[in-house]
Amino acid sequence: MIRWLRKRSAEAGTTEGQIVPESSREGEDSGISMPQGNVGEDEGNSEAMTGTTEKTAVLEEEQQLIIEPDAVQIPQQSDCGEDQAESLNTGSQEAAVAAMEEKAALPEADHEPILSVREVHRSFPVGSTTLHVLKGINMEVRPGQLVMLKGRSGSGKTTLLNMLGGLDQPSQGEIWFRGQPVHELSDAKRTMLRRKQIGFIFQAYALLPLLSARENVELSLRMASIPASQWKDRVTHCLELVGLGKRQHHRPSEMSGGEQQRVAIAKAIAHRPHLLLADEPTANLDSQMGAQVMAVFRNIIEVEQVTICMTTHDPTILEVADHVYEMVDGRFI
Ligand SMILES: Nc1ncnc2c1ncn2[C@@H]1O[C@H](COP(=O)(O)OP(=O)(O)OP(=O)(O)O)[C@@H](O)[C@H]1O
Ligand SMILES: [Mg+2]
Repeated sequence: MIRWLRKRSAEAGTTEGQIVPESSREGEDSGISMPQGNVGEDEGNSEAMTGTTEKTAVLEEEQQLIIEPDAVQIPQQSDCGEDQAESLNTGSQEAAVAAMEEKAALPEADHEPILSVREVHRSFPVGSTTLHVLKGINMEVRPGQLVMLKGRSGSGKTTLLNMLGGLDQPSQGEIWFRGQPVHELSDAKRTMLRRKQIGFIFQAYALLPLLSARENVELSLRMASIPASQWKDRVTHCLELVGLGKRQHHRPSEMSGGEQQRVAIAKAIAHRPHLLLADEPTANLDSQMGAQVMAVFRNIIEVEQVTICMTTHDPTILEVADHVYEMVDGRFI
């Protein structure tokens, strides 16, 4: 049994509350514990673990944080280049606050691309041969855009999305995100980039099943080292933004697919990322729920000033996009 600890933040002078399942809080004693294995095993409810690389990586980081809060290392300044100083430079709460304030100060009409992809290739060794999956991708995404990647199964959409989020590296080419060369960043810097500036949404929701909607959203604030004093208001705001003000204490198994995906959206935007990456976010939903999710996306672009890049197979939602890139066999046409 793993005892969930309480971690105190001396810097902020606040108690950074360990996220504790709400059901456990009502237990007989304050000894809040859970079996380590359950976190991963229960992911298997619904199709939550379909084994995609990016979702697994993100979930593993979150699970590790729950089980061993102090085991998740935040790179210190010395680990980062000076030019990367902004939000990559420290794991301190002050830095997280500064990153949020810095984002708030960005000019509304920022016409520079938030994301530029230049001649990106990705190959995988398969047995004695090499599988050339991405074959020279060029794209630009501007702040506040909703950009969609469409294409047949196996065309390379997820492979590209993984690289946009720093979960994988190109074999050749460049990816620039807000002036940072993602293709050159170390693993530690890319991890910090993901936690602080990027939000992920997956086809199968990727919520932790033992946690309530609120606790799932809180988790991404904790991952981004946002001070605990800000969690309550921010979580409430995000859940209300996705229309779930009345489902805050429900666990994933007590919600519909559309509701679970909206919790996943609230979780993905909670730490105020600049970029939201969504891999087929409507694929598990019927058309009505899919339309709700797209309406939420449009709303959060306005309210949260986020930029969204998503993949889809669904032709009916393409009209919501500001721009559609069509991928055929590793190239845009
Ligand atoms: N780590 C890997 N090693 C070897 N091949 C890989 C790896 N990752 C992806 N591929 C291959 O790259 C191709 C593109 O995969 P990808 O998952 O990007 O497609 P996709 O467009 O997202 O498809 P879908 O619409 O089915 O999700 C596939 O043929 C896949 O088998
Ligand atoms: Mg895919």
